[in-house]
Amino acid sequence: IFLISITVVVAYLLGSIPTAVWYGQGFFGLDIRKFGSGNAGATNTFRVLGKRAGTIVMLVDVLKGYTAAILSSLLWYADVITDKEILTFKIVFGLVAVIGHLYPVFADFKGGKGVATLLGMVLATHPEMAVVCIGIFLLVVIASQYVSLGSIMAALAFPVLLLLRIFGQKESPLLIVFGFIVFLLVVLTHQKNIGRLLRGQETRTVLIRLRKK
Ligand code: G3P
Repeated sequence: IFLISITVVVAYLLGSIPTAVWYGQGFFGLDIRKFGSGNAGATNTFRVLGKRAGTIVMLVDVLKGYTAAILSSLLWYADVITDKEILTFKIVFGLVAVIGHLYPVFADFKGGKGVATLLGMVLATHPEMAVVCIGIFLLVVIASQYVSLGSIMAALAFPVLLLLRIFGQKESPLLIVFGFIVFLLVVLTHQKNIGRLLRGQETRTVLIRLRKK
């Protein structure tokens, strides 16, 4: 229990690393949360600070979720948890890191929307599904030019495709429940985006900006 609690704290601190905020402050002397959509995430970093900054923030944010989930393997090596518990703890540590990303202790508890960090933990728990979800995300973003819509659709596809057993195997019920939690979380963090999408006011920035460069 002691080691598990320590790992939960480590996962939270890892998720709390406010990559977009620190990158903006460190290299551009600005608070990313005051520009663009106001979100401290990779998408807004792309939008406000450009391709290189956005890519780095995205990679680090993905890595946060991935690393937090993988901490469960360390506990398994140390014989703290059993084979059967690995998936449960991947989900627990990954979600704790996502909470850290949403409410970072290092940035006044105002973080991002958790998409990249969620992707990292999904990569660690179900890599094939993560690849399919990245594909869906890219297709929706390219077709609609709305990153937020891509995030929401990919998050919806995750539990639905698990239920449909697209890989032909029975998926763990725990993972399916987790999938729906991911979708719910993404809907909650994207409430403002959903409002803007419905009003036709969402910004179609990223690809347009990339193309112009
Ligand atoms: O990953 C976040 C993305 O779905 C939306 O970001 O900055 O457009 O609100 P943003």
